Amino acid sequence: MTSFPINSLFSRLALVLMVSFLLLGLMLVQLSRQLDASFQEQVTQKLHLSLAEHIVHEGPLFIEGKPDPAAVERAFHNMMILGKGFEFYLLAPDGTLLNYSAPPEKIRRKRIPTAAIEQVLAGQSTLPLRGPDPRDPIREKVFSVAPVMIDGQMLGYLYIIINGEIYDSVAAQVADSAWLPFALLMLGSGALFLLASTLGLFAWLTRPLSRLSDAIGAMETQGFKTPSLALNTPGAAREVRQLEQAFNTLSHRLQLQYRKVKSVDEMRRELLAHVSHDLRTPLASLQGYLETWMLQQRKGQQPDPAYVEIAQQNAAKIHKMVDQLMELARLESDQVPMRIESVSIAELVQDVLQKYRPAAEAKKVLLDVSPKDPGLQVAADIEKLERVFTNLVDNALRHCHSGDSIRIQLLQDDQLVKVSVSDSGIGIPASDLPHIFDAHYKAANSIRGDAAHSGLGLAITKRLLALHKSSIEVSSKVQQGTEFRFTLPLA
Ligand SMILES: Nc1ncnc2c1ncn2[C@@H]1O[C@H](COP(=O)(O)OP(=O)(O)O)[C@@H](O)[C@H]1O
Ligand SMILES: [Mg+2]
Repeated sequence: MTSFPINSLFSRLALVLMVSFLLLGLMLVQLSRQLDASFQEQVTQKLHLSLAEHIVHEGPLFIEGKPDPAAVERAFHNMMILGKGFEFYLLAPDGTLLNYSAPPEKIRRKRIPTAAIEQVLAGQSTLPLRGPDPRDPIREKVFSVAPVMIDGQMLGYLYIIINGEIYDSVAAQVADSAWLPFALLMLGSGALFLLASTLGLFAWLTRPLSRLSDAIGAMETQGFKTPSLALNTPGAAREVRQLEQAFNTLSHRLQLQYRKVKSVDEMRRELLAHVSHDLRTPLASLQGYLETWMLQQRKGQQPDPAYVEIAQQNAAKIHKMVDQLMELARLESDQVPMRIESVSIAELVQDVLQKYRPAAEAKKVLLDVSPKDPGLQVAADIEKLERVFTNLVDNALRHCHSGDSIRIQLLQDDQLVKVSVSDSGIGIPASDLPHIFDAHYKAANSIRGDAAHSGLGLAITKRLLALHKSSIEVSSKVQQGTEFRFTLPLA
């Protein structure tokens, strides 16, 4: 399990949630206490609403228009039996306190407003209705009230505070001892539950993120050698899924790029190794024949002119290889100048075939181009296009036997000219086909011939066509022949 430092997302989330929860909890506790109090007041007021009226009917509290102390005393005393919660006041019609059941020092008002009393007597109010408390200048309490009538004359009110001072103090004691542990228990267990659910929620939310960070970590340590795991967390949120997809695409691209860079690098190294190997043979031969020739001369013998000729042939081979290498290097650099112009492609092909005609006739191989229409014009760099055909025809001729044929077909198709160079020669094994355009690749059945063949021809050809924004394709069958195809834009 991961630890959660204070600045982690989880700690912050948990802190905010806990504080909000505690505040909300305290507010709820307060609210429910208030609701509870109001509910109790309503119940007690409803229960005791007619209490004052009953007492008034018990017996006259006034004598000759004034309060009868003895009667009042008796009535108050009787009422005490009901309980300690009640407080009794005898009021004049204007609210002046005439008599009461309390020690005089407790009384804080000589007169109380009668608005609430009149409201209750008129029966217009909804309960609980609070009236002024004579024992406090501002406090209000639920009450019961009845007018005192004698011979049809209203002499005053009997005003009873329900839930008086004693009730308050007892209620406060009980409330604190009952509410506090309950509220604490509720808040505590709520907070615990919240913490646990936040933890669960957080783990659930961040699981895909951890996987993502693991994947990135793996990428960092292993490089791009192994294919990185494709992330697809089931049930993950949409945003997380998008993130995962972005990561998958990114890692895929990086891997492709990495492989590409790596293969180019490997190819370069291989090429260098092969070329130096290929160069060594003609170079050794060149050196050997020259040394022999010099030795013969030093000995005073007549040196054999054939030796110089062979040395010269080897030098030509080396020359050709170096030329090809330099051409490929030049073509692979970024800035290759292109001189695009209208080229009569049938004429160009005829020129190339012309060069090979003596060799083809000697080998009894037929060379042909169709159609021979000089009007068919393509947009191309003529020198580079000539190199393309030279390479392809050179290869074809080398891999043909007597009686075979090499055909070049030109087919106009909309804005393009489709070019096909086919031969009926020995063909290329299927396993070699994907590689023949690699620099220095020679197929298993490759015929070396007597000239230097370093396997760069098709790599150069491919690159030359790429500069014309064209790609080259090959199809071949062993013992049946080979066909190379590409297209060129119509001029
Ligand atoms: N027309 C063809 N018929 C058979 N094999 C071919 C043909 N063209 C190319 N190849 C094969 O492709 C290889 C690569 O050709 P290329 O790059 O021109 O190199 P090189 O001509 O120096 O051998 C050849 O060595 C040969 O094996
Ligand atoms: Mg070649």
